[in-house]
Amino acid sequence: MNNKLLDYALRVRLPITLFVIALAFTVTFYVSRAERDGIGYQPDQPIKYSHKLHAGDLQIDCQYCHTGVTKGRHALVPSVNICMNCHTIARKDKPEIIKLTEYYKSGKLLPWKRVHKVPDYVYFNHSVHVNYGIKCETCHGDPRKMEKIEQVKNFNMTGCLNCHRNPEKQLPYLADVKKGPENCFACHR
Ligand code: HEC
Ligand code: HEC
Ligand code: HEC
Ligand code: HEC
Ligand code: HEC
Repeated sequence: MNNKLLDYALRVRLPITLFVIALAFTVTFYVSRAERDGIGYQPDQPIKYSHKLHAGDLQIDCQYCHTGVTKGRHALVPSVNICMNCHTIARKDKPEIIKLTEYYKSGKLLPWKRVHKVPDYVYFNHSVHVNYGIKCETCHGDPRKMEKIEQVKNFNMTGCLNCHRNPEKQLPYLADVKKGPENCFACHR
């Protein structure tokens, strides 16, 4: 490359390239932020499933449906099969259960809308928190009282660190309260 071309590349192309990268980064950040939403987020679900009825009144254990909470990163949302353990019989002539049965028969996944979500660049693991003894309610409010699930706590960096730094405030029910990590690589790996 001769000097003139190099000069052109640095003076014109480089700033433009940097500008485009910065713009793309900013746009992606805000778009993904909007998708995540926050406190009060309570989307309509494809089936009118009630935690208040199932986990509250019928007292079905959280882990009957959220089988991953003590095993790995994700709590997991149950497949229709688990619902059909009861609903091949219970209320099978009700409109919502007829809809549910159609999903089951077609083998299609129920498109439940995600309520809580940390960005992809954050590492969060349910089993570590749940096995240590932290209750679902501390992070999710009490779904046993919720007709429809709603996000009640902030899962931004401050939300996580508030508990990691001063766990005794949020975990008074634990006998031996440990602090969570504050180093960047614990959550950004
Ligand atoms: C009979 C099955 C069942 C039981 C029992 C159950 N859940 Fe759920 N849970 C679901 C289904 C289905 C969804 C997805 C639809 C929705 O958000 O309502 C869900 C969603 C959730 C979500 C939101 C997931 C997201 O998208 O962020 C949380 C939090 C949750 N459940 C917590 C609990 C807790 C805590 C308990 C026990 C007190 C519990 N669940 C008991 C079936 C169940
Ligand atoms: C352990 C048994 C059991 C499981 C598992 C279960 N349900 Fe139910 N569900 C019931 C019973 C019992 C009722 C009726 C309760 C009543 O009205 O007194 C009910 C009621 C309902 C209703 C209200 C029906 C109406 O209109 O009256 C819906 C919707 C529903 N369940 C969806 C689901 C979904 C979705 C799942 C899976 C995520 C699920 N259920 C898992 C037992 C169960
Ligand atoms: C220390 C806080 C904390 C505790 C305790 C906790 N959760 Fe969560 N939960 C989260 C966060 C953060 C997310 C979002 C995770 C993600 O995006 O990967 C989440 C997501 C979920 C989801 C959505 C699906 C998934 O697998 O990510 C369900 C369902 C859920 N939690 C259920 C539960 C249940 C049931 C319990 C109790 C047994 C529980 N959680 C305990 C913080 C917590
Ligand atoms: C209510 C308190 C509380 C909240 C909220 C909480 N944590 Fe923790 N976290 C803990 C405690 C206590 C430990 C230490 C547990 C242990 O060492 O057994 C821990 C440990 C961890 C660890 C180290 C273990 C591992 O999985 O590698 C990571 C990473 C972590 N938390 C990420 C998060 C993120 C990300 C959030 C927010 C989305 C969060 N935590 C929210 C209490 C909390
Ligand atoms: C306990 C978990 C945790 C630790 C430790 C942590 N972060 Fe984060 N960080 C998060 C979460 C959760 C988000 C997502 C925030 C959101 O959703 O807006 C985040 C977001 C970020 C972002 C994106 C911009 C923003 O503020 O939303 C940067 C940059 C960042 N963290 C840097 C760091 C650095 C540097 C450290 C070490 C000093 C660190 N983080 C330690 C959990 C953590």
